[in-house]
Amino acid sequence: MKLTASAGLRGTLTVPGDKSISHRAVMFGALADGDTHITGFLMGEDCLSTIGCFRKMGVPIETGEQEVVVHGVGLHGLREPEGPLYTGNSGTTTRLISGILAAQPFPISLTGDASIEKRPMGRIITPLREMGARIEGREGKFCPLSISPAALHGITYPMPVASAQLKSAILLAGLYADGPTTVIEPAPSRDHTERMLRAFGAQVESDGCRVTVHAPLALRATDLAVPADISSAAFFLVAGAIVPGSELTIQNVGINPTRDGAIEVLRAMGAEIAVTNRRDGAEPVADLTVRTSALHGTEISGDLIPRLIDELPALAVAAAFAEGETVIRDAQELKVKESNRITAMVNELTRAGADCTETADGMTIRGGRPLHGAAFESYGDHRIAMSMAVLALGASGESEILEPEVVSISYPGFFDALRQIGG
Ligand code: S3P
Repeated sequence: MKLTASAGLRGTLTVPGDKSISHRAVMFGALADGDTHITGFLMGEDCLSTIGCFRKMGVPIETGEQEVVVHGVGLHGLREPEGPLYTGNSGTTTRLISGILAAQPFPISLTGDASIEKRPMGRIITPLREMGARIEGREGKFCPLSISPAALHGITYPMPVASAQLKSAILLAGLYADGPTTVIEPAPSRDHTERMLRAFGAQVESDGCRVTVHAPLALRATDLAVPADISSAAFFLVAGAIVPGSELTIQNVGINPTRDGAIEVLRAMGAEIAVTNRRDGAEPVADLTVRTSALHGTEISGDLIPRLIDELPALAVAAAFAEGETVIRDAQELKVKESNRITAMVNELTRAGADCTETADGMTIRGGRPLHGAAFESYGDHRIAMSMAVLALGASGESEILEPEVVSISYPGFFDALRQIGG
């Protein structure tokens, strides 16, 4: 994929549905009694992996362009699949489904692609075992996982990392436990599981970093409208801020306060972002308008990190175009995403002429140098590919994005959308 410096990005666009919410909609719909109608669903490869896994366990799921109907089989209606479940590149599928599978009356094994096989699963194995699960991983901590039938009991678990995937795996196992299940997070992570379980009729209490689920007798199907993904919108917020002569509006974006850290940081860097047409439902949504802005460096650390973890590669691009130093700290989780996103971003920003250094838990970017196009690597990681495409629009000369097809994990039409706004 070749890109050249762009002269102004303009227009209104709708980015695809939220990946985290789309996964959960299928999973909870599968476990509910009745039909769950989902609109705005993300037809990205990760969410298709989730659909594939539940179809293999006997859940009828119909798909349209952005609509999905899940014919729920109830909490105890999943069937033993023929052979292992394959979760592709999707950490969310792998970790959340493990919590559900730990309570099923059949043995199962779970496997994914080469990236999934490297991602840490010890973090879910430890608490699920504490709940009574019989779950084994390769070398005790990696996929493939094998899970055997077991009776689960409720626990109170202080989580070592702020991770919504870990929190959700435990809460989903808690749907089948013989008592309440509580997790305590070091900092609040995205709360889509809590919000959506309530919409399905489960009793979930949350208070800051502490969340408790009570095992329900049943989940009740509901209709769900998935907001546009703020993690996909973030690429356009950064592009609109750095490319001269731009004004972009991204419609109907999920602005859940556990996910909106990128807006806060970009504004702190000087980006002009207007949040309009706000509507509050199960998940708050709004339209976001960004204009070209003079950016300056900032610090991104602490409790902010879980609120923008997936947007850090895009924010690193913004930092490379900002005057002064940006320091990203407390972000060691970036090393265990679809790629090591700290190393990947430092390598690729450096290739474009940026001055940046990898640190133990993040990176330091001294912005303001003129950046030039190059052939950028994607590391098999959708968010690295899209970040470097955004950089290419603001840099001089021509760039190439290698392995551009990886964007289809979370944003199948990404390059078409870039063209549509003048990229
Ligand atoms: C997600 C949680 C985050 C995030 C991922 C999606 C989720 O991962 O990075 O893209 O849907 O729960 P961690 O739980 O590993 O932080």
